[in-house]
Amino acid sequence: MSSSLPAQQEKVIYDEAEIPKFTLPDPLVAEDGTKIESAQQWNETQRPYLLGLFEREVYGKAPAAPEKIEYQVTESSDEALDGKARRRQVAIQLTDDPDGPVLNVLMYLPKTDKPVPTFMTLNFYGNASIHPDPAIHLPEGWLRNNKEYGVEDHKATEKLRGQSQGRWPVDLILENGYGLATAYYGDIDPDFDDGFQNGIHPYFYAEGQKKPKPEEWGSIAAWAWGLSRAMDYLEQSPEIASDQVIVMGHSRLGKTALWAGAVEPRFAAVISNNSGCGGAALSRRRFGESVKRINTSFPHWFNDNFTKYNHNEDACPVDQHELIALVAPRPCLVCSAVGDRWADPRGEYLSAKYASPVYELLGVEGLKAEEMPSVDEPALSRLGYAIRPGKHDVMRIDWERYIEFADNHVTGK
Ligand code: GCU
Repeated sequence: MSSSLPAQQEKVIYDEAEIPKFTLPDPLVAEDGTKIESAQQWNETQRPYLLGLFEREVYGKAPAAPEKIEYQVTESSDEALDGKARRRQVAIQLTDDPDGPVLNVLMYLPKTDKPVPTFMTLNFYGNASIHPDPAIHLPEGWLRNNKEYGVEDHKATEKLRGQSQGRWPVDLILENGYGLATAYYGDIDPDFDDGFQNGIHPYFYAEGQKKPKPEEWGSIAAWAWGLSRAMDYLEQSPEIASDQVIVMGHSRLGKTALWAGAVEPRFAAVISNNSGCGGAALSRRRFGESVKRINTSFPHWFNDNFTKYNHNEDACPVDQHELIALVAPRPCLVCSAVGDRWADPRGEYLSAKYASPVYELLGVEGLKAEEMPSVDEPALSRLGYAIRPGKHDVMRIDWERYIEFADNHVTGK
């Protein structure tokens, strides 16, 4: 592959035969070559070492949690969705500046007296896009223009309501006894490259700093940090079973869910949907989207150090199976779609497979699929992998699988 061509014109590998030979780093070998043979060694030295590498070389290190969070319940109903659900809308102030960014979390909860296990997921177009419920606040900040969704001049209109509801089967989630908590990722950092002038980053700059340092947080790390702030809220809500919060995300937000699961131990489980390059897919395969390509199209997603691995994947001290290993021993489900070749379904499967020895070392079930599962036979083991027919998307069948997975490994239903 010539590196002189602009990234967008380079040939994309869509053929297994064209994948260059590579050796993956072994998550169970320490920096000095020592074999990691106990859970204690993993927890005390190897895990922090790998987490530090991902922070330094890939996503960037995010600041510590604020000392205290301010939040305000902006709307609440016990008779939402024709009386079937409780609805809560909460504004979480992300910094101590009252004019700073606010994360608006929407929750639908089943009506029960017990705290509920909950899926926490970021969304792409604002909370009002996930359901036609007219009580949901329209997003006020910057949105990606989308005529069909009624987003013009980067502003939401009433037409936005329910536009992405196909991805959010709220009825199914509630019927199965789960809550849904969701927030717009742009509340944390709008998803375009502006040199980190808007969103959360500038609130953490040192005196005179203009952008994050090469090892500091990009946008994915910022979105994951925002998920932790949502968790701060969920943790103190008596309505939520805070030890049963499952972080789920699709695509760039699937990358984010995995990173959130790695840095935030309070997430009980992680589900990555079609997360691809920089998510579940092994970078060294270079199948579909490559590191060079993603860093060129989305320079703000990762930290600046990650660009060292453009056309140079083998030099990266980590690969994405080790990201999944950082979720261990908590349940983690990796989901692909046959038509989503850009995200390299096989590379997503192999990441789970090569993370499996870490689960086993920690004394829990790893991936129960020696070969890549077929579309009809999802491997819903504690470290799981599922693929379905169809395109890059979130479908009802995906949620059916998430729920079965959560029933098996999070709530023990
Ligand atoms: C692009 C990008 C992917 C990303 C996807 C998405 O296709 O190349 O890396 O996952 O957008 O977030 O929808």
